[in-house]
Amino acid sequence: MTGLNLKTILVTGGAGFIGSNFIRTFLDKHKGVEVINLDKLTYAGNLESLHGIDGNPSYHFYRGDIADEAFVRRLFNEWHFDALVNFAAESHVDRSILGPSAFIDTNVRGTMVLLEAAREFGVGRFLQVSTDEVYGSLGQTGKFTESTHISPNSPYSASKASADMLARAWWKTFGVPTLITRCSNNYGPFQFPEKFIPLMIANALRNKKLPIYGDGMNVRDWIYVEDHCEAIDVVLSKGKIGEVYNIGGGNEIANIEMARLILSKLGKPESLLEFVKDRPGHDRRYAMDSSKVEIELGWKPNQSFRGGIDLTVNWYIKNENWWKRIISGEYQKYYKLQYEER
Ligand code: NAD
Ligand code: DAU
Repeated sequence: MTGLNLKTILVTGGAGFIGSNFIRTFLDKHKGVEVINLDKLTYAGNLESLHGIDGNPSYHFYRGDIADEAFVRRLFNEWHFDALVNFAAESHVDRSILGPSAFIDTNVRGTMVLLEAAREFGVGRFLQVSTDEVYGSLGQTGKFTESTHISPNSPYSASKASADMLARAWWKTFGVPTLITRCSNNYGPFQFPEKFIPLMIANALRNKKLPIYGDGMNVRDWIYVEDHCEAIDVVLSKGKIGEVYNIGGGNEIANIEMARLILSKLGKPESLLEFVKDRPGHDRRYAMDSSKVEIELGWKPNQSFRGGIDLTVNWYIKNENWWKRIISGEYQKYYKLQYEER
C-alpha cells in the first residue's frame, strides 16, 4: 500500500461474496495488517466462505450489525482503524422488491452509523463499495461515467445511491475521508446462488429449469470478483479522497447468451431455459466506463471473460457442498416465493 500507513482495516460484510474474496486476497497481500471483519451473518453471510483463514492471527471476526450504533461505537473504541471498506449490504434486487425495509436499515442507516463512528473516532480512509446500478439504465449505446446522473430504479439501487450521497456529504461537511467505488456485476467463487450466474449453474447441474426474466435481452457488464477486489485495494491506497471511481469488466453480454454459455460449458440442453415474468423496473443495460481508475490509478482487469467463466463453473462443480447446503436450507422459502408460487 502506498500513501497509507495501514496497520488495521475494518471490513464490513466480510462473510459475503465479495467481502470474503477481498479478505482472503488482502490477508495474502498485506501480511501483518490486522483485518477486522464485522458481519451480521444474514442469510447471505457465510463463515464457510472464509474457511482456512480463521487460524490467521491477523484476522478477527465480530458478529454485529452496522446499523447498531452502540455496537459500532464499542468496536471503534476497541480498535483504531486506518481504513474501512464497507461491503455490508442487502444486495439482491429481487429481495428489495419483495421487502425494501431491510435495505434501508442496512444500506442507508447502517452506512450513516459507520460514517458517524468514523467522524467521532477517526479513520484513515473510508471506502464505500457501491454499484453501477445507482446510474439507472442505459439504452443500446453509451457507458456510465462518474459524471452520469444518479437515477436508481429499484429499492436496492435507491438505497445504495442514498449511501453514496451520505458518504459524499460526510466528506464535504465533516471531513470524513471517503472514497466511493461503483462496480458492475461480479461473478466468481462463493456467490450466493440467488444471483444470476450461480443460480444458472446450480439449476443446470441439478437439471432444473433456468428462469430467464422477460425476453432475456437485458445486458450486464461482468467482472471477475478478484479484479473488483484488486480495484478496491488500489482505490483504497491511491484514490483521491472525495472521488468516485467506476469499475467495470468490459464484458457486456445479454442474460440469455450467458445462460446458453453456461449450459454449453456443462453439456446441458437449451430446453432447460424457461422465460418467466420480468422483474419489475428491470434495468435494460449496464456498461461501465472505467477509464478514470485505469488512467489515474493504473488498475486494469486481469481475468478474461471466458477464463473467469471457466473458473467459476469449475468452482461450483467442485464445491457442491457449499451451495447445496445453502439451497437445502432457509433459501428454499425465498426460492419458492420468487419462482414457484408466482
Ligand atoms: P452479499 O449479499 O453476498 O454479502 C453481504 C454481506 O453483508 C453478508 O455477509 C451479510 O451477512 C452482511 N450484512 C448484511 N447486512 C449487514 C448488517 N446490517 N451489518 C453487518 N453485516 C451485514 O453481497 P455482495 O454481492 O458480496 O456485495 C457486497 C457489496 O458490494 C454490497 O455493498 C453491494 O452493494 C456491492 N456490490 C455488489 C456487486 C455484485 O455484483 N455482487 C456489484 C457492485 C457492488
Ligand atoms: O450491477 C451490479 C449489481 O449486480 C450489484 O449491485 C447487485 O448487488 C448484484 O446483485 C447485481 O444486480 P443484478 O440485478 O444485475 O444481478 P442479478 O444476478 O440479480 O441479475 C442479473 C441479471 O439476470 C438481471 O438482468 C436479472 C437477470 N435474472 C436474474 C435472476 C436472479 C434472470 O433473468 N433470472 C434470474 O433468476
